[in-house]
Amino acid sequence: MKIKTLIIGAGAAGLHCAAFAGAAGPTLVIDHAKRAGEKIRISGGGRCNFTNLHTRAANFISANPHFAKSALARYTPWDFISLIGGHGLTYHEKTLGQLFCDQKSGAIIQVLLDEAQGSGADIWLNTELKSLSTEAEGDGNGNGNGYRALVVRDGQAVTISAENVVVATGGKSIPKMGATGLGYDMARQFGLPLIDTRPGLVPFTFAGDVRDQMARRSGLSAQARVSAGGKVFAEGLLFTHRGLSGPSLLQVSSYWQIGETLGIDFAPKQKIGAVLTAAKRQNPSQKLAKALSALLPASVLSFLIDAPLLDASLQTLSQSTIETLAQQIHACTLRPAGTEGYRTAEVTVGGVDTNALSSQTMAAKAHPGLYFIGEVVDVTGWLGGYNFQWAWASAAAAGRAIVSGP
Ligand code: FDA
Repeated sequence: MKIKTLIIGAGAAGLHCAAFAGAAGPTLVIDHAKRAGEKIRISGGGRCNFTNLHTRAANFISANPHFAKSALARYTPWDFISLIGGHGLTYHEKTLGQLFCDQKSGAIIQVLLDEAQGSGADIWLNTELKSLSTEAEGDGNGNGNGYRALVVRDGQAVTISAENVVVATGGKSIPKMGATGLGYDMARQFGLPLIDTRPGLVPFTFAGDVRDQMARRSGLSAQARVSAGGKVFAEGLLFTHRGLSGPSLLQVSSYWQIGETLGIDFAPKQKIGAVLTAAKRQNPSQKLAKALSALLPASVLSFLIDAPLLDASLQTLSQSTIETLAQQIHACTLRPAGTEGYRTAEVTVGGVDTNALSSQTMAAKAHPGLYFIGEVVDVTGWLGGYNFQWAWASAAAAGRAIVSGP
């Protein structure tokens, strides 16, 4: 069959791209999964944190920090808000510009499906891509115009000729949900360079006694300002069975490299040294645990400070002990054993090198008609709706370019 555009991946970016590309001519979206948009379904605790009002290029990690600017400027959070509003969906801001759907995430998937199908696009699920080549390779006539894909749908092999191919296969995170490295393989096949990939927005794991202590506090949360890889986030910490998670930890995980330490300030809004010095003067017989109890949760106190010291009265603490305690609380240094990896990571950092792509259209510079959009590209957002905003914006850039033509 001959079509205008073949989109590989019926996730956030692929479905949104189809809504634009359909206007250019016959468009087909294929996906090997049973259902479209599965990551959208589980996102935001089932309510999809679909964008962030404060989206800027600075909220993304990429070897080229300027690459995302053009697409993000031409498709803003307000464009997506207006799209879902037109379908009767409502939303609320939770914190830090993060917008969540009032309805279930499935309602966002339905908007994307309705928009894609409304533009005339077909969606084939349970469909495997077996091969992709340029027409020049495929038919041997040397024209090199367009692409030829061999796909298998419900056991039937189908050959598809398409002028444009959009790779929207996402990253490697959560293989159980259909993530594969297909997009990276396709980039390699066409000679596009890749930036090394690693799990991002992922919980940390620890080893030995520290891990046991964290496991004993599993489920308890605390305020924390966490730094790694030169970045600092102050959004909260969660103890888990394997180590640490929570928004601050997930954020820094995208910057952290194996072997590095994490710096944690467990009382970012306090000056522990000054508070303890004043408390010692005013109430010398008070126990250290009592003096700190209004400033830190008990779970953190017992994690950071040995029980006999917590039981000591303030008058027995020297100034240098107070300073050491303040240091332990404000500048705790921990070395993770690793992360939970792609099994639980929300995103994949790295991907198709943006140097090989046009920032205006997402097309491969060396291969007209071949586009890479969404998470497969080396553009990775922070936690908080940024990754979906990149999916929408990069999809719109490619879809509009397909409609306006070369
Ligand atoms: P996406 O992964 O959505 O889609 C890729 C599609 O390609 C899938 O349908 C897959 O089946 C298909 N595919 C893969 N390999 C294939 C192959 N070999 N053949 C055929 N099809 C193939 N972001 C955010 O902004 N706000 C949030 O609230 C969340 N929450 C969240 C929770 C969890 C648990 C996860 C794992 C992730 C998030 N994210 C998020 C991140 C967000 O889900 C992600 O960045 C986008 O879905 C990326 O969109 P893409 O379309 O690029 O990939």
